[in-house]
Parts: sequence; structure tokens; C-alpha cells
Amino acid sequence: MAVENIPVREGKPNLKDYEKARESFTWDEVKKNFSWSETGKVNMAYEAVDRHAEDPKKKNKTALLYSSPDREEKVTFSDLSQSSNQFANVLKKYGVSKGDRVFLFMPRSPEFYTSFFGILKVGAIAGPLFEAFMEQAVRDRLQDSGASVLITTPDLLGRVPQDDLPDLKKIVLVGEHDQSGDKYIDYETEMNAASTDFDMEWVDLEDGMLLHYTSGSTGKPKGVYHVHNAMIQHYATAEWVLDLKEDDVYWCTADPGWVTGTSYGIFAPWLHGVTNVVRGGRFTPEDWYGTLEKYEVTVWYTAPTALRKLMSAGEEAVKKHALSPLRHILSVGEPLNPEVISWGLDAFDLRIHDTWWMTETGAQLIVNFPSMEIRPGSMGKPIPGVEASIVDNEGNELPPNQMGNLAIKEGWPSMMRAIWNRPEKYESYFINGWYVSGDSAYKDEDGYFWFQGRLDDVINTSGERVGPFEVESKLIEHPAVSEAGVIGKPDPERGEIIKAFITLNDGYEDSDELREDIRKFVKTGLSAHAAPRELEVKDSIPKTRSGKIMRRLLKSWELGLPTGDTSTLEE
Ligand code: WTA
Repeated sequence: MAVENIPVREGKPNLKDYEKARESFTWDEVKKNFSWSETGKVNMAYEAVDRHAEDPKKKNKTALLYSSPDREEKVTFSDLSQSSNQFANVLKKYGVSKGDRVFLFMPRSPEFYTSFFGILKVGAIAGPLFEAFMEQAVRDRLQDSGASVLITTPDLLGRVPQDDLPDLKKIVLVGEHDQSGDKYIDYETEMNAASTDFDMEWVDLEDGMLLHYTSGSTGKPKGVYHVHNAMIQHYATAEWVLDLKEDDVYWCTADPGWVTGTSYGIFAPWLHGVTNVVRGGRFTPEDWYGTLEKYEVTVWYTAPTALRKLMSAGEEAVKKHALSPLRHILSVGEPLNPEVISWGLDAFDLRIHDTWWMTETGAQLIVNFPSMEIRPGSMGKPIPGVEASIVDNEGNELPPNQMGNLAIKEGWPSMMRAIWNRPEKYESYFINGWYVSGDSAYKDEDGYFWFQGRLDDVINTSGERVGPFEVESKLIEHPAVSEAGVIGKPDPERGEIIKAFITLNDGYEDSDELREDIRKFVKTGLSAHAAPRELEVKDSIPKTRSGKIMRRLLKSWELGLPTGDTSTLEE
């Protein structure tokens, strides 16, 4: 279905003229908005929280509008400033200091945000883990990062490994529990005893702030390392792309275990002192429309998977709700189908603005601005201060309309600064001064970028990145499984689903029960979103002569496509 270009709407976007902004822009202009440009004292926690708490006009403003099926809470900037001071005191008391890694493994809750800023206030590096992770996923991340403290809930404690984690000294438990022993810290007791005053640890713009683990096509998940300097880009994009204004009520639906949930679920709105809605619990269309309505959300950042689900819930569902405050919708994480944009025009009478970026890039890079014509199916254009291009494998730029590697000129403010423990992996992203994203795309004559697909084997299921190697490794831990190859299979709702091909060990027979048991094994061992939806038993898995699983071939077979060059196939 062809969907026509959608012209700019009436209104007063913060960024009025995109082309003009690009011409003369320098990042130094944005730096003027931060207190550190005058004081020299830097900390994200100051700019996002304490700065507003010190402002008599803002301190009693609602920072967080939290709700979940069984809890609702309003937290002001002043509340958040004080509670995060308390938590910083707790961490300090137990010896946490600058550069230490402190991980969070808990559902979205006011305590999550309190802890998160407490971590930053002592100068430590926060590592948020998605609450659906199971033991193996938690273990890999804690081991690699060498985290010394973990904050979790009694419900999730069962998934926290109790061995093989020599660096993990303390576990903070949020909620009622019956753990005793030196290793455990009771959140409530310690918070009650802690002072609401804290001497912020001032850091350097290049000091570590955040570790987000993400999946590649090979090996274990990698720790993408971000520094405080990223705030420059969070601030700017919140203004230009989210179009945030002082009185907005903003809702980003992403979990802070993923980068969207931190960069745009924490930093971007709060750097501007904007009221931030956080909704915990599972997705249902009724609940999501209800949240938009109840909190009179004005700006909404979500993902294609959710939009597709809302779309399939039908027109009735949306028309039941009064959503007139909503004025701006954005999407990220996977290709945004033109059909969904077209539905958005009917359902909300609003344009849906696609944005492209990655865990590694730390913030939005290629976007549809409110002040720009939308070409449905296109990710839009690079933000001011960023140069994007399509390059070949040697890093040479390609002409318009030619497909190649989507690449960004090195040096934007929110760029990752390292892959934790893996300098060679970090280096491998860069060719000839370009950061090469792993996505393929082309650029049209007018400078709009069009996403084509991933160039590696990384699977994007419902907007979440899953590494096939991780799933394969888990599968072969099951006693019945001998070998495994995992691919992403196109799916109309989820973008891709995970399909696994396996061979069985002697003595095992293929059956529905066995396949279900294997699926469950991945689900409970690794994480629900990484469990294959489809499992197929094969006599053999195609491998190269050097023993690498040929996922491309599996995919071609699955999709009935030509198999291409198979000269490296084992036999
Ligand atoms: C994909 C999420 C198409 C892409 C912020 C990228 C997209 C990966 C888009 C990063 C988009 C992200 N259109 N694909 N607008 N945005 N992607 O690290 O393949 O979880 O490389 O970061 O998601 O996923 P990540």
C-alpha cells in the first residue's frame, strides 16, 4: 500500500526550520543550557533532578507520574532529589564510589528511579537489567561488568545467581523479604536511616554513567558504555525531536532495561524538567489508551510493535477514549510500517514520527522532525550536528538511491565510549572515520534515509534485539539438543519472531511435548522474549568448514529463497 507524503502540520515546533538549523549548528550552542557551562561541576543527576529541585518554581512540580495495575504515585522533583540523596548515602555507606558498577534488576517503580539517580550521585555507573531476564542473562551481565552492588526485589532474587559472582558484594532488596546475612541490604530500613542531604560527586563529562548490555550476532551480550557527555544530545533531541515544552506530559513506553527507556524515558524529559509518565505492568490496548487519557499525555514515544497491536485492536477501542491533549507521537526500534502511519492519521488525527538510533549511538540520529514532511517508510533525516551517509565496506560514500551500510561520521555527543572489556570489539565498529551501524539503508535525492534491514544475524523481535548465539548456547544446554541454529523469521505483528532449528541427541524423539519443553527451558533460563516461538527438528544443521552455523542458509530455506553461495558449506 502506497501512503502519500504527509505535509507539516500547523503548530509551533521548537525546531522551526530544519535545513537552516543544520547549516550553522554547533554543539557548543547546546552546552550553554547546562549549569556546568558556568560552574564546571558536572553530573547528570544534577541537571536532570537537583537543578529543578533547587528552582522554587519547579521543585513541587510532578517529575514522575507512576502507575501500575496495583500502585499509583506522584513524585515531585524535590521528592526525587531527596530520595536519591538518601540512596546515594546508602551506597556510600557500603563503600560504593566513583566508577563502580551498580546494577538494577527490578520492575519500573519509583524506587527504580530513586536508586538510579542515587547511583549517579556517587559517581558510579548504572546498569539497568530488563526485568524479564532469567538467571543466565543476569549472570552474563553481572559477571562481565564486575558489578559490586545489585538492587533487586525479593520476587526477582531467585533469578540472581548466588555463585560465580566474586565481585558482587551487596544485594539491596526493595520490598518485604526474609533474607538475613551480611550480603543483603534492606532498602526501606537503610533509606529511613539515611540523610536527605548528600554531597554530589562531581565528575567529568567523559566519566562513565551507564552500561547497557545489547546483543550482537556473535558471542555474549556486550556492555555498551556511555558517559555523562551524552546529556548534550539528550537535551537537544528532547527539544527538536520530542518537541518537549515546559507543560507537556510525556510518556515513553520503553522499559529502562533498554536504551530508549533511559535516554528518552529518564534523561530527555527530566533534563527539561518535564512531567514524565511511567506505566509498569504488561501491555494491553485498553490499558494503554486508558493511560494516555487519564494522564492527559501530550507527547508519546512508543514502538511499532505496540502501535501494530493497537491498530489490530480496532477503531472502537481508540474512539472510546478522549485523547485530545495528545499532540505528538514518535516511534523507534523497528521499521515503522506506512500502514501504521496511515492508521495513526485516522485514529489520532496525528502524524507518527519515526526515529532511528541504537544502543551504541546513545541518542536519536536520524529522525522525522515535526517541522518536516513525512515520507512514510523513511526514517527521516539526520539531526543537526550529525553527518549520516551510506558507505560501502571500505567506508567510501555511495551515491543516492544505492543501498549500503548506514554509517555516521564519528564524534556526536552521545556516542558510546567503549564496549566494556572488549576494546577490539569497539574498534571494529569504525571504518575510515565512519561508525558503521550494521543496518543497511539508502538515501534518496532529497536526503531522506530508508531502512532496508540488518546486515548481521541480529534478530529484532518486537523491537528488542536478540543475539542468535545467546539463544543457540542456551538451547544446546538442554539435554535433548545436540546442535542449534537460530534465525529471525518475518512476522506481521512482531517484526520478526525467533525460529530455532535443532538436532537431537541419541535417544530423543521429536514430539510436541519435547519441543515445548525446550522452549520453556530457554524461556525460564534466559528470558521470555528470547525463547523461540518456532522450533524445528532437523537431521543436521548447515555449518561452514570452520564450524560456524550458516544462519543465512537456514533463513533462505525457511523463506524459500535462493541459497546463494554455499561453497563454504561443510559437505
Ligand atoms: C533497529 C533501539 C528501523 C535497527 C533504540 C537498529 C530501527 C536497532 C529503527 C537498534 C527504525 C531502530 N527503523 N529499524 N526507526 N530504530 N531500529 O540497540 O536495526 O535496541 O540497528 O536501539 O534497531 O536497536 P537497539
